[in-house]
Amino acid sequence: MANRGGFSSRLGFIMAAAGSAVGLGNIWGFPYEVGQGGGAAFVVMYLIFCFVLCYPVMVTEIAIGRKTQKNPVGAFNALGYKKWNFVGKMGIFSGFLILSFYNVIAGWAFGYVYEMAIGNFDIATHFSEFTQDVFKVGAYGMVFMATTAYVVSKGISGGIEKAAKFLMPSLLIMILLIVGYALTLPNAMDGLRFYLVPDFSEINTQVVINALGQAFFSLSLGMGALITYGSYVNKKENIVSAAAFITLADVGIAVLAGMMIFPLIGFMSGGAMDNVGSGPGLIFETLPEIFGTIGGTFGAVAGTLFFVLLCFAALTSTVSLLEVPVAYVVDEKNVRRSRAVWLVAGAIFLIGIPSLLGNGYSEFFSKFITYPGSETATDFLSFIANVANDTLLPLGGCLIVFFAAHVWKKHNLDEELSHGAPNYKGSFLQKYLNFAVGYLAPAVLGFIFVITVLKTYFGISIF
Ligand code: PFF
Repeated sequence: MANRGGFSSRLGFIMAAAGSAVGLGNIWGFPYEVGQGGGAAFVVMYLIFCFVLCYPVMVTEIAIGRKTQKNPVGAFNALGYKKWNFVGKMGIFSGFLILSFYNVIAGWAFGYVYEMAIGNFDIATHFSEFTQDVFKVGAYGMVFMATTAYVVSKGISGGIEKAAKFLMPSLLIMILLIVGYALTLPNAMDGLRFYLVPDFSEINTQVVINALGQAFFSLSLGMGALITYGSYVNKKENIVSAAAFITLADVGIAVLAGMMIFPLIGFMSGGAMDNVGSGPGLIFETLPEIFGTIGGTFGAVAGTLFFVLLCFAALTSTVSLLEVPVAYVVDEKNVRRSRAVWLVAGAIFLIGIPSLLGNGYSEFFSKFITYPGSETATDFLSFIANVANDTLLPLGGCLIVFFAAHVWKKHNLDEELSHGAPNYKGSFLQKYLNFAVGYLAPAVLGFIFVITVLKTYFGISIF
């Protein structure tokens, strides 16, 4: 077999996988989902999903990847279950969809680096004009996709791992500094209360669907990204502890992102938290405000630095999104890595164009679909996010755990997990994972998948 490359160290893998998980999903997606649905009640649902259901899915994905040393389609073949490789194909398709819109948002973040550098804090109130300037933001997106392709073309340890190791810790420090500052602003506590004190009457079917979709998206699960990263991990690695670290890091950054945004919304609205559902523009409208309150050169430097780091967080995620189809094409179709990378990246950029146009520039894509039972139209980008994040990822996760427990069999999974984790067998964690992977996760994920399809695409609520 050709040398596929691999992570050079334990830390390298953890940082790269955490880099995949931590991205726009945490800093852009999480706060806006919290704002749109349920506040702290959403946060509670999200945390439960991450630890109880998603962590077992993550462990399973990494184990399948390491066992087979293959991309998500090749992995099912290598285990001898070719019929199941449709799960891998579905994952690759989801990755295509996700990267197509993700890159558009990353392009916005990239554009904000410049806006902050010139001290244009007013952009907070001109965000929709910014997104409608499609040639400009399209160019930013193109540069972002090209950068992603460049890193992926450099291979595993040379590109992905190196970037992640340095940038992730820097982002954390920057966020902590901003949280500290935001908390000192007037009315910050009103925002914090909305974010942290749950009102469980806010929970409804839609909140559950969104929280699950957000958990999968944020942890990069359900599409084989971690099967792919797992395929580059060596046998000495302790998968269960690495996955625990990745989950904690990802959830931790999301929670901190909320502590950064909500106090700021409290400050801006004078404490009124009844209108925070501004949607995908949320961070682009609130964050410049905080740098504006700092003001002057210092505000501009802080703002620039923040969006630079956000771009890097997005980059370690786009890299993993691109790596999935690339690994597939390289392994299964025998295409050279460098060639595969540019072909796939170009195709995904093109698929992303409707998402780019659907933010006010094109009426058709901005009001792309009106779901049954809804009064308002959904734009193309949000539609793709609903299809990929809320529908396909949980379905993929459900099928992966079901496959691992009942087709590949639990004892094989346990065997793989015990490499690098000598105390795993017989532990409480093993018992829990057996139960979660075998029964809890397939049942709950399957059930929520059915509810999601009925509610979102047919307008039928059974609750
Ligand atoms: N987890 C990334 C984020 O939260 O920004 C997005 C993502 C990356 C999703 C990789 C899926 C994936 F395979």
